[in-house]
Amino acid sequence: MKALKKLAVLLLVGLALLVVALNIWGALTLGSLRPSANAPVHEHANQVVMVFGATGSVGDGLLKAAMADPDVEKVYVVTRRSSPRIEAGVAQGEIEMRLHEDFTDYSALADILGEVNTVLWGLGTTSLGMDDETYTRIHVDFPVAFVTAWLAARRDGPMAFHYVTGMGTDSDGAQHWAREKGRAEREVAALAEGSGLRTFGHRSAFIRPSSEQANAMHYLLEALLRPGALVIGSEELGGAMLEISARTSELPNGAIIDNADGIAYAQAYRARQSP
Ligand SMILES: NC(=O)c1ccc[n+]([C@@H]2O[C@H](COP(=O)([O-])OP(=O)(O)OC[C@H]3O[C@@H](n4cnc5c(N)ncnc54)[C@H](OP(=O)(O)O)[C@@H]3O)[C@@H](O)[C@H]2O)c1
Repeated sequence: MKALKKLAVLLLVGLALLVVALNIWGALTLGSLRPSANAPVHEHANQVVMVFGATGSVGDGLLKAAMADPDVEKVYVVTRRSSPRIEAGVAQGEIEMRLHEDFTDYSALADILGEVNTVLWGLGTTSLGMDDETYTRIHVDFPVAFVTAWLAARRDGPMAFHYVTGMGTDSDGAQHWAREKGRAEREVAALAEGSGLRTFGHRSAFIRPSSEQANAMHYLLEALLRPGALVIGSEELGGAMLEISARTSELPNGAIIDNADGIAYAQAYRARQSP
């Protein structure tokens, strides 16, 4: 019994040290972008928003942010199925849902792609237990096919594509998922070159689900990881994306947004919404 207690204490101390080390690392290494205090904002930059992955933990918060933004006039959700938030939005006339099956083919969206200004791409999943080929199809082929179809329908800005790739994304990384997400960031940016589209890779750390989906563990993790800027709320991330879209002349095509950068843009977004 005594030995068990000792082991439990050792484990707790180990965990506490790990959390402290992670926070120190985050505080020292993250955050290279500073939103300018007086950047001009394009009031129509987020007029029409399209959300992918809205039934997921991240996408649900991105959708919540888009629905709450007073500058957003229309929200399209492209999805395989509905969710309570999508259902409520459709019932209130705030969302148009397009049921979609093949995310490598967007011909069914040809009637609306030309309207869209901002895309919030939370579609994606864990690499655990997934073969490399399927992972590549979902995380590279899907977004590349979408951006190709979007640019065929429209090339005039303001247009912004926000892809939640995640912390650790690295085209030269050791892991397949990290390399493939890095490749996707680069490929969509290359497609956008010379057009009015800017693409952004959001290398977020832990993304706390929206208040409707989060539980006590999520909030505990958030409290533990906030000091090192290693957590962002999903709705907060949506706000950061909308702010980056609206600041049409601030960040270049292909910019990488780490978790601390996301927090900084979310703060700028909140300041603009309630000055
Ligand atoms: N959660 C985090 O803390 C975190 C942090 C950093 C980065 N990310 C990244 O954010 C992305 C989303 O993560 P999540 O936690 O929100 O995952 P999630 O809760 O599993 O949601 C995944 C979303 O993607 C859709 N999706 C997955 N596979 C699909 C497919 N083959 N075809 C069409 N739709 C598909 C799902 O649609 P269905 O409902 O139809 O399955 C769902 O809307 C992932 O790329 C993840 O790596 C997440």
